[in-house]
Amino acid sequence: MIKLGVNVDHVATIRQARMTYEPDPVTAAGLADLGGADVITIHLREDRRHIQDRDLELLRETVFTKLNLEMATSQEIVDIALKINPGQITLVPEKRQEITTEGGLSVTSQKKMLTDIIKRFKDQDIYVSLFIDPDEKQILAASEVGAQSIELHTGSYANAESEEQSSELLEILNEAVRIARNVGLRVNAGHGLTYKNTGPVVEQLDIEELHIGHSIVSRAIFVGIENAVREMKDLIYKHYMIKQSL
Ligand code: PXP
Repeated sequence: MIKLGVNVDHVATIRQARMTYEPDPVTAAGLADLGGADVITIHLREDRRHIQDRDLELLRETVFTKLNLEMATSQEIVDIALKINPGQITLVPEKRQEITTEGGLSVTSQKKMLTDIIKRFKDQDIYVSLFIDPDEKQILAASEVGAQSIELHTGSYANAESEEQSSELLEILNEAVRIARNVGLRVNAGHGLTYKNTGPVVEQLDIEELHIGHSIVSRAIFVGIENAVREMKDLIYKHYMIKQSL
């Protein structure tokens, strides 16, 4: 079964809008766990716009499934991650002005730096994934720098404006999965996935984890986070079963 990683940054975004103590992403993570989340994801950004250091520390203590820390490669954040020791890190590019992570990491242009950082994490038994676009050069470079896994950026697929475009983008993702698996990488996917567009991803891509945030937290406002996570788990299960029967 494809695992579901739930990104709770968006809960912290609401809290930070008032600089208060609620809603707490730590509570959200506990309820997401009850709803069946397999992974809890947070992004400790350099500008601390949503997740705070205190959230990371508490989640490290309270998440018993897997804690996936999205992070940039800045010295400060690398040092914090090595100290906290989450189960998995996903290296992402980070720009101050962006609303959310916009593109995939350029692995080809920073191979030496990434090789050094990844080695430090692997030496501490922290599993390393790289968030990249479905691009052959980036995938091969991810393998060369020592990553164990990649997370394919599904943003273009999510933003497709027609069914035809969405099928073409899924085929590009599919080819990316094949290339990655050929060089021994495990493959995750995420960004922009919703209750409407996740089904085809599950049916067509041979991946390990889906990482979803905004759509689940949006639905949680109306149905509660535990239910929202359960509904997404059910959806993944339903489409996974369709895939098995093909
Ligand atoms: N994966 C990565 C690497 C991300 O940066 C994000 C956004 O925080 C997600 C997945 C989840 O994207 P969304 O919030 O659009 O579901």
